[in-house]
Amino acid sequence: MKNIVVLVSGGGTNLQALIDAEKRGDLGPGKITCVISSTLDAYALTRAKNNGIKTRVIPKKGVGREEYTDRMVAALLEEKADLVILAGFMVILGEKLPKTFPNAVMNVHPALIPSFCGPGYYGLHVHEAVLAAGVKVTGATVHFVNEVCDGGPIILQGVVPVENDDTPEVLQRRVMENVEWKLLPKAARLFCEGKIQVVNGIAKAIGE
Ligand code: GAR
Repeated sequence: MKNIVVLVSGGGTNLQALIDAEKRGDLGPGKITCVISSTLDAYALTRAKNNGIKTRVIPKKGVGREEYTDRMVAALLEEKADLVILAGFMVILGEKLPKTFPNAVMNVHPALIPSFCGPGYYGLHVHEAVLAAGVKVTGATVHFVNEVCDGGPIILQGVVPVENDDTPEVLQRRVMENVEWKLLPKAARLFCEGKIQVVNGIAKAIGE
C-alpha cells in the first residue's frame, strides 16, 4: 500500500475525484490516508470527513513560506506519505518539500505548462489569462513539484477547446471535468504502481 496525502485549500473537486477513483479501485495500491488544508473553512475538509479520511489543518495565514514549509514537511513525515498530491492547494511551498520528497509530490495545474503558469497563475486567474490571450486550446497538467513554481517534470497533460463565448467559470469547469478529474487519479495510480520514471528532468509514464 502507498500512503497518499492530499493538500487542499478550497472546494476540493479534485480531492473528490481521487476519493471516487479509490472507491472504484482505480488508485491501484494507493490509499488516501490524510487530507491537509491550508484553510480552516475549505469544503475539501468536509469531503474528506464524509469519507472517513483523517484531516489536518495547517493554517497559512500569518506564517512565512519557510516556516510554513517546515510545518508541512514535518506533518507529511508524521503521516508517512509516499505520495503527496497538491489538489487545489493555493500555497507556494519552499524547496524543502521537493528535497524531502523528490519526485514524490505532484500538482495539478489548470493550463498547459509551460504556458499560463508560475506565481500569480492559480485558480480562475489562469482561465482569465487564457481568454485574454485568445488561445484556441487549453487544458491541464499534472507534474512533479520541484524548486521552480510549476516547473517540475510533466507527467500527464490533456487539452480542451476554448469556445468563442467562454467565461472563465465555464472554461474552468470544462478543464476540470474533461482533464483534471481524469488525469490526476490516473497519475496517482501510475505513481503508486511504480510506473513513472524521471530521467534528466523528463518524466515518462511506462505502459501509457
Ligand atoms: C483546480 O482547477 C486546480 O487545478 C487549481 O485550482 C482549482 C482547485 O479546484 N489549482 C491551481 O490553480 C494551483 N496552482 P478544487 O479545489 O475544486 O480541486
